Amino acid sequence: TAPNLLRNFCIIAHIDHGKSTLADRMLQLTGVVDARAMRAQYLDRMDIERERGITIKSQAVRMPWQVGDAAYALNMIDTPGHVDFTYEVSRSLAACEGAVLLVDAAQGIEAQTLANLYLAMENDLTVIPVLNKIDLPAAQPEKYAEELANLIGGDPEDCLRVSGKTGAGVTELLDRIVADIPHPVGDADGPARAVIFDSVYDTYRGVVTYVRVVDGHLSPRERITMLSTRATHDLLEIGVSSPEPTPTSGLGVGEVGYLITGVKDVRQSRVGDTVTSAVKPATEPVGEYREPRPMVFSGLFPIDGSDYPVLRDALDKLKLNDAALAFEPETSVALGFGFRCGFLGLLHLEIVRERLEREFNLDLISTAPNVVYEVEMEDRTTVRVTNPSGFPEGKVMEVREPVVKATILCPSEFIGAVMELCQNRRGIQLGMDYLSADRVELRYTLPLAEIVFDFFDQLKSRTRGYASLDYEPAGTQAADLVKVDILLNHETVDAFSAIVHKDKAYAYGVMMAGKLREIIPRQQFEVPIQAAVGARVIARETVRALRKDMLAKCYGGDITRKRKLLEKQKEGKKRMKNIGRVEVPQEAFIAALGSE
Ligand code: GTP
Repeated sequence: TAPNLLRNFCIIAHIDHGKSTLADRMLQLTGVVDARAMRAQYLDRMDIERERGITIKSQAVRMPWQVGDAAYALNMIDTPGHVDFTYEVSRSLAACEGAVLLVDAAQGIEAQTLANLYLAMENDLTVIPVLNKIDLPAAQPEKYAEELANLIGGDPEDCLRVSGKTGAGVTELLDRIVADIPHPVGDADGPARAVIFDSVYDTYRGVVTYVRVVDGHLSPRERITMLSTRATHDLLEIGVSSPEPTPTSGLGVGEVGYLITGVKDVRQSRVGDTVTSAVKPATEPVGEYREPRPMVFSGLFPIDGSDYPVLRDALDKLKLNDAALAFEPETSVALGFGFRCGFLGLLHLEIVRERLEREFNLDLISTAPNVVYEVEMEDRTTVRVTNPSGFPEGKVMEVREPVVKATILCPSEFIGAVMELCQNRRGIQLGMDYLSADRVELRYTLPLAEIVFDFFDQLKSRTRGYASLDYEPAGTQAADLVKVDILLNHETVDAFSAIVHKDKAYAYGVMMAGKLREIIPRQQFEVPIQAAVGARVIARETVRALRKDMLAKCYGGDITRKRKLLEKQKEGKKRMKNIGRVEVPQEAFIAALGSE
């Protein structure tokens, strides 16, 4: 298709504002999927995505659309909606000329919509404002059209009103996409350049790479080069999804489609990288390529130690389809053998954990998530700390932690509550704007570590669920951070070490020591539980010694019950961990890590 007949667009929407439903309706109206054959929410592939109603992996679909005599091809590029995947979102946006800004007409704009809108504007996309779900009795299209117009300029009347559910207004939207969004422009005769906006591992076909061609042409059977690594591959297949993969005679300027090269690992075909011809290579990449960098780390341990090899294989498998997942073996005194895993953010962590448990049948225990710290020592060397127990000994000059720029949207009655929360979490206010008389956007710089620790739950409970949050990485800052160790009978329990702000060290120590006192069984001797910063003890609790034979006391004469109990104890022994002389059932550690 000639570039002037192409339109590349994406849909920007907050979770639940109806993106998938609208996308399905477009597929149906353009005849790409007939209503009967349509699986609900065609674009969301993975079960977890569907169940949680979130879109993780982006994909593209090509739809034919006739306006007058002209036959257009519309490429709809699906963007991941969540904060953890900002870079992937930005790459999907970079593959488009326009964006449909979809807002639930009963809810109004949310933080995520806003964050993605800013990204779209940075990429110079043409934005089409659309209010969705106008069939809802609670819809207030007038009010929110005003809000949208305030935000992006223009007339409230320009805002389209649609219902993905009933199909109302969707034909007009497709026409508007053709009319308003500019067609792609590129150098048809130049060396081929295509940007990767997604790559997905498929069991049967290996990695399927989704690209948008910027210049030149990519043809079947040609040899291609990945610009970031200079790795070359043969193009086994090239085509478009509509929505099933359909091979074509190649992809030209502005076209969106998929490539198959036979590689088996998404790391060989990375989002953001530029594909070019190996014979006539381009020198300049399309935009800047960024390595996915894990921001949040956590230890994952199988509850049953014999599952360790299963966990290792499972992580290897997940990694094929997840370029951002990092892991290395870790041994913990308290939890045994496991892996230290790195994630883009909390949702990413949750998704991986859930997939491990569900798809691989693993029971896992994870340590409290932590961010990456840079520790500068007195001799000017810098240590990157991804695990609190690896915090360096010796004279520390400075500790730096990652910070984020956060955008919070809430009804104005909650401004006070949100500001207080941000202040407690060491936030620095950057600005505040009223979107309408009763809705406010607050912008803060916050340490990522403070967000990782139940920030979102707190935000929701303080605003009765009305606030929304989005954030993006914003570098690092120096902070007064210390490592707090938890000692059991004078031995450090590695899984409980944490890096916290100096002002919060005491509270953390008291909390952990108290919690452990509750769950650690009594021993034959007194066991001190201490929290310490370096050699300085900041909190202490004691598990008192057993005084009598508990068995005799509890169960008196009932010999069968006694035997049963002994048997159970023997079973339990397998799961006992020794911290120095203290025997602790693994369940106790799990309990202590579980409930925050
Ligand atoms: P994520 O994939 O989580 O981003 O969600 P989404 O934005 O794709 O939303 P989805 O299409 O899954 O719709 C969310 C909910 O809104 C579902 O319960 C839909 O049935 C409902 N919904 C979507 N569009 C409409 C609409 O036009 N009218 C009404 N009444 N409900 C709608």
